[in-house]
Amino acid sequence: MSDVDFIKSHLGSHPDFPKKGIVFLDIFPLLRNPVAFETLITHFIHRLTSHTIPNSPTKKIDVIVGLDARGFLLGPLIALRLGAAFVPVRKRGKLPGQVVSAEYQKEYGTDIFEMQADAIQPGQTVVVVDDLIATGGSAKAAGELIAKQGGMTLEYLFIIELLFLKGGEKLDAPLYSIVQSD
Ligand code: ADE
Repeated sequence: MSDVDFIKSHLGSHPDFPKKGIVFLDIFPLLRNPVAFETLITHFIHRLTSHTIPNSPTKKIDVIVGLDARGFLLGPLIALRLGAAFVPVRKRGKLPGQVVSAEYQKEYGTDIFEMQADAIQPGQTVVVVDDLIATGGSAKAAGELIAKQGGMTLEYLFIIELLFLKGGEKLDAPLYSIVQSD
């Protein structure tokens, strides 16, 4: 079985969660299995180290940005393997010190994402990680926070992409997903 099929086979699927009509795709069964979790992280590392990322001046990745909340479960593992910094993007009001903010659209209304103001230095190369991209609103806001600090986003990484929502079209750098769902 390919790595992708192995990873896919460990995803859960919950119809009508958190409400009727939504099929919730669950990464936690994957994280529960250490062989599957290892395969996932190694797959991401191969992606980041074995192909030339368009617009990247070098192959070096300085910063991995993880999105609140499930991006926090993946980002630090990827960052450590690459010898890169890990930087969290959090919902408003959770981070101490000076922060930069960006608003994003949710299903109902808007929310605010924040990053610590000294987290990224001008010119640093950045990869954004989350478990799933739906409409792309939160990933787009993360890209705005990186740009505000002078960082250069090279790529957005996800385990799962909901193709029908076309979230990738909102982003300012290429998207890579392991599993696509429609
Ligand atoms: N976030 C938005 N849509 C989702 C889905 N279908 N499964 C899991 N997380 C989601």
